[in-house]
Formats: sequence, C-alpha cells, structure tokens
Amino acid sequence: MTEEKDTAARLVAQLLAGEHSGELDEFGEPDQVAPGTTGLIDLGELAPLAVDEARVPLASISDNHLSNELPALDLETPAVVRPSGRPVIVFDHVSKVYPAQPNKPALANISLEVYAGEFLFLVGHSGSGKSTFIRLINRELRVTSGKLSVAGESLVKMRRWRIPFLRRNIGCVYQDYKLLPDKTSFQNVAFALEVIGKSRHIIRTQVPEVLRLVGLEDKLNMLPEQLSGGEQQRVCIARAIVNRPPLLICDEPTGNLDPQTSLGIMRLLDRINRTGTTVLVATHDREMVDSMRKRVVALENGYLVRDQDRGVYGLDA
Ligand SMILES: Nc1ncnc2c1ncn2[C@@H]1O[C@H](COP(=O)(O)OP(=O)(O)OP(=O)(O)O)[C@@H](O)[C@H]1O
Ligand SMILES: [Mg+2]
Repeated sequence: MTEEKDTAARLVAQLLAGEHSGELDEFGEPDQVAPGTTGLIDLGELAPLAVDEARVPLASISDNHLSNELPALDLETPAVVRPSGRPVIVFDHVSKVYPAQPNKPALANISLEVYAGEFLFLVGHSGSGKSTFIRLINRELRVTSGKLSVAGESLVKMRRWRIPFLRRNIGCVYQDYKLLPDKTSFQNVAFALEVIGKSRHIIRTQVPEVLRLVGLEDKLNMLPEQLSGGEQQRVCIARAIVNRPPLLICDEPTGNLDPQTSLGIMRLLDRINRTGTTVLVATHDREMVDSMRKRVVALENGYLVRDQDRGVYGLDA
C-alpha cells in the first residue's frame, strides 16, 4: 500500500513538474537542460492578469529567467478579456495515428487556431479524439503529421528537455482528479509549487489564496476522501492555476459530477477565463455547453466537423 502511494506520489509529482514523459520515451531524446539556461520560465511574465497584460503572456515561452513572485489572481473583479490577435495554439493540418490503430487516425487533418483569452469547448462523442487533442497540446503525445505550436513554439521540433517548461505554462484538470489521497487540500496544491521549486514563503501565501478563490478556504486541512466530488475538482483547479499558467486545459472536468455541481465548476472556469487565462474544455456535457454560449469545436471520428462562435453542442449530438 505504501509502495502504491509512493508510486502515485511520484507520478503526480512528475505530472506537476511536467516531467511525465507519456509516449516520449520511444523517441529517446536527450533529457537535459540546454547550456546557459536556468531551465525555468518566468511565470510572472507569462501570467495573464488584466486586459492589456493578457495580450502579452504567451509570447515569451523561451524566457528562462527564474521568478519567485507569483502575481495575484483576482477572480472577484475579473476583467472581461477579449481574445487577442496572437494565437496561443495553432493546429496546422495535424493528424495523430496511434500505432495500435494504424488505419484509423484518432485525429485527422485538424487545422485550428485558439487565441489568447478565448474559452473554447471541445465536444464530440466518445472516441472522437477530444483527449488526444488535449494530450497533443501538453506534448504528452506527438503529432504524426502536420504542425502544432503553442505560444509560438513548435511542439514538433521541441526538444525533450523543453517539455517541462511548456507544461509549467499549462494547467491541466482531469475527470478523475488525480489528487494525492494522503495529502490535504493545502498539501495537494502546495505540491504543485514545491515540485517547481517555489519558496516556502510563496507556498504559504499563494496556496490559501488560491483555495479561497475556488471557495475552499474552510477545507484547507481536509483529505480528498473528506471532500465531495465538486470540492475535489475545485482543489484540482486550484492546483492547476496556482502558478498562474496562461493556458488551462480540462479533459471532462465535470464528467463525474451532478449538473448543479458541474455548473459551479464551469462558472469557476469562466471566471478564471475572464482574468485572461485561455481555457479549453473537452466535454460531453451538452447542457453545459449550450448554456455557456462559448466557442464550440466539434470532433467526429477524428475530424473537425464544426467550429462555431457562441455555439451550442450540436443538433445531432
Ligand atoms: N493509446 C491508444 N492507442 C490506440 N488507440 C487509441 C489510444 N488512445 C485513444 N485511442 C483511440 O483514438 C480515438 C480517440 O480517442 P480519444 O481518447 O481521444 O477520444 P475521446 O473523444 O477523448 O473519447 P471519450 O469521450 O470516451 O473520452 C479512439 O478511437 C480511441 O480508441
Ligand atoms: Mg477522452
């Protein structure tokens, strides 16, 4: 049991530090930091805060300066951020074929741009390619053909040592929470900062603040098993945004939640988006998508079949 917990902790730590290699091992790229770099991206500079700053954030993913400061996240009085002129994510004729299914691409010839400050729903039936799409963005998977870039940096050419820095700019939220069972809400969120080397001072100030923002100020010392599903997902969201990533990607974040709780989670994601964070949500949740009136991208058998501003889930879905 202890061994299982250790393994779980190691996996989550790798995930949070951006070092979980997914399928990358097969490529055997050198896992080292380039000479002359600290290996750390300046999160302060990248963090979206207000309308004007939100236009800048993802421009300098190649910066490797160390920042100890984390800018404040103001969800109480969020600015409404309009998508800015520079795409954060560019899919250019991207296909993904899994070796186990060589004749059926999981994604086929996808071209799409996501702009800084956008909120985008990715919808489609089971097996349509939503998770594959998400996992390409954080470079858990590599494209089979086509070009994919995030923050102006090509993920096709990206060296392996660079991947953790990419991932530190992308908050990830999953359906199954991935919280460490023997750590409190505070400790689970703190862990995300510890693995990227943040100081105790930053952790002591930033963690309660972010947990307050997601409405869990009175649950700091609770273990996951003492929290409801919606509360656990809030801890995950707090963990994903605590270092102020400019991009938040969520794979079925409300998949295990009842409609009322799901609405609360989506409203929280909407508030985070209004602070300037670009938010991408893969979901089955048709009612939610219809009620939120955001951009909707629909996949069907790996093909992009619809891309609609202020869309609804789809008449035939
Ligand atoms: N590791 C894998 N190896 C082979 N095929 C895979 C792998 N992962 C996914 N697939 C296939 O790729 C296609 C897309 O899968 P994906 O998980 O992206 O779909 P999804 O839209 O997220 O589905 P769901 O809504 O059920 O989560 C499916 O046909 C699936 O069987
Ligand atoms: Mg999926």
